[in-house]
Amino acid sequence: MGRPFTFPDRTIVVTGGANGIGYALAERFLAEGAARVVLADLDGERAAAAAAELGARAQGYQLDVTDAEAVAALIEEVERDSPIDLWCSNAGVTTGGGLGSDADWDRTWRVHVLAHVYVARLLLPRMVERGGGHLLITASAAGLLTNIDSAPYSVTKHGAVALAEWLAILHGDEGIDISCLCPMGVNTAMTAKDGPDAATRLGGDYLEPEDVAQSVVEALNEGRFLILPHPKAAVMEQRRASDRDRWLAGMRRARARLKGGSGR
Ligand SMILES: NC(=O)c1ccc[n+]([C@@H]2O[C@H](COP(=O)([O-])OP(=O)(O)OC[C@H]3O[C@@H](n4cnc5c(N)ncnc54)[C@H](O)[C@@H]3O)[C@@H](O)[C@H]2O)c1
Repeated sequence: MGRPFTFPDRTIVVTGGANGIGYALAERFLAEGAARVVLADLDGERAAAAAAELGARAQGYQLDVTDAEAVAALIEEVERDSPIDLWCSNAGVTTGGGLGSDADWDRTWRVHVLAHVYVARLLLPRMVERGGGHLLITASAAGLLTNIDSAPYSVTKHGAVALAEWLAILHGDEGIDISCLCPMGVNTAMTAKDGPDAATRLGGDYLEPEDVAQSVVEALNEGRFLILPHPKAAVMEQRRASDRDRWLAGMRRARARLKGGSGR
């Protein structure tokens, strides 16, 4: 277990914070007493509007998490006023289904893996130097299991989980805590296109972003690495680990049943 994270007086950055899970995290962190929450999003206008909705302790910034220079500039800008205690590396993208184009692989790799590497390079050394800090990486249950629909999404989310584990091993004894958020389906713009029968197709219920934020706050309070808002993801991961061939056969049956449904 890592160190428990407490919210009062903290400065927190949430990428992809203008919408969906990121917005719900920001809202909940403020309710828990955070001093300052920065919503950083590719959609700068929506980030500013979201921050205005959340009140004076929220700030909106335009940020492309795949632009290392822009990430460095934002860290510099935020830390001029207060050191960042928690960075939520949450921005994510979807692709079309199947094996994907080179452009799909490039985009998902940059957003789901390299963006976290940039934060690890640029912010974690500062946190180590001041003796503490927390990085939350939003991966996905697709990063522990699979996403039946999209190879680039599935593989890059596995990369995100692997990177989070690697960072936790590297920095755990330096006062840095890493958490890895792995939800199954959540009702956001990302999954809106799945349609009304999506939860049935996925064989599980969709959660609301606020439910995910609840799981995140509980896990951070406990200093836990792996955050599974859908408890069944833990059972499925155990089944996968205990008999890979059986798990693959089950996934093939699920794929046939679902006829190409997604599982972000
Ligand atoms: N919704 C789900 O079912 C689900 C399940 C598991 C994991 N996730 C993950 O949760 C995270 C949040 O997704 P969401 O469901 O809230 O989706 P969302 O589409 O509501 O929010 C994603 C946000 O990321 C921003 N973004 C995209 N590319 C960016 C970039 N290059 N730089 C900065 N911001 C960028 C978007 O503008 C958007 O505001 C993602 O990493 C996603 O992969 C979602």
